[in-house]
Amino acid sequence: MRFLSDLLCHKRAMLDFTQPSSRTFLSFYAACQILGIRPAEVRDPAISSEMKGESREDSVRTFSSYFDMIIMRTPLQGFVEKMAWTLSNTERPLPIINAGSGKDQHPTQALLDIYTLQRSFEKSGGLANKHVLFCGDLARGRTVRSLSRLLAYYPNIRQTFAAPEHLKIGQDIVDELTALKVDFSITTDFKAAIPSADAIYMTRIQDEWDQSAGESTRFNQMDYAFTADDLKKLGHASVIMHPLPRRQEIDTAIDNDPRAVYWRQMRNGMWVRSALIATIFGRDQEITHYYMMNLK
Ligand code: NCD
Repeated sequence: MRFLSDLLCHKRAMLDFTQPSSRTFLSFYAACQILGIRPAEVRDPAISSEMKGESREDSVRTFSSYFDMIIMRTPLQGFVEKMAWTLSNTERPLPIINAGSGKDQHPTQALLDIYTLQRSFEKSGGLANKHVLFCGDLARGRTVRSLSRLLAYYPNIRQTFAAPEHLKIGQDIVDELTALKVDFSITTDFKAAIPSADAIYMTRIQDEWDQSAGESTRFNQMDYAFTADDLKKLGHASVIMHPLPRRQEIDTAIDNDPRAVYWRQMRNGMWVRSALIATIFGRDQEITHYYMMNLK
C-alpha cells in the first residue's frame, strides 16, 4: 500500500540481533518495509567491532549515529532497557525497541499475544474474565514473563502456570502478580487444568540456557505437551497459542483445528510491530484517519 510505504520512507532502522531469531527479526524487517523504513542489520557480533574489544554500549552508540531507531535482541538481561536510558540522555535520543532480552522480557511478543487474545475472544465476551493457562519452561521463557505482566493490567484475568518443579515461574513474577492482586495459581498438573482454560499458551523448553547437557529435560515431556486427545477436553471457544518455534509440545495433528491460532498469532506480530513503530514516530493518527476516510 503506497500510503503506508511513503509514511516513514525518510527513516532508517538498525536491527541489532545478536541472539538467534527468525520470526521476530523477519516480522520487524517486514514491518519496516510496510512503513517504508530502510532496515540494516547486524546478526553476528563476530563481524562487528566488538571483536576488536569495543563494548556493547559503544557499538549501540555507533548505531545511534547512523540510524533513526534501533531494534535490539540480546542475550543480556536488562541491557535494552539500560541502553534506552543511556541514549535518552545523549544528544541523539533515538527510540530503541526491545525484541527480546535474555531470559527476562519480550515486550513486543506480549503486545502481539494480547492482540491475538483480543481478536480471538471478540465474539465470546472479550478478554475480560478469561482464564489463561501457561505451560512449559516458565522459568526461562521470556514471552510468558512479559505476557503475564501485561495481562495483570486487564480486568479479572485468571492465570495458571503449569510447569515441572525445576522450570516453574520466577518468584519476581509471583511477587508482582501478588502485589497487583491477580488471581493466579501454580501447578505441575498441566492436563488437569486444560478443561477450564480459555487460552492455552504453550512454550518450548529453553535448553540453550542449561549449564550441563540434558539438565532441564529430565522429566516426561509429554506431560507438558498438547496432543490431539487434549483437544477433546478443550472448550469450543478456547484457543491454543505458542510464540514459536515449537518442538514436540504441540502435536502437528492439531494445526488445522480452528482453535489452534499460533500461525495467525505469528502473522499478527508483523502488524502489531508496524503499528508500534508508526506510533513511536507519531504517525498512528494519520493511519487511523486514512483508513476511516478510505475504507468506509
Ligand atoms: C521466543 C523467544 O525468542 O523468546 N520466540 C519468539 O520470539 N517468537 C520463544 C522461544 O524462543 O522459545
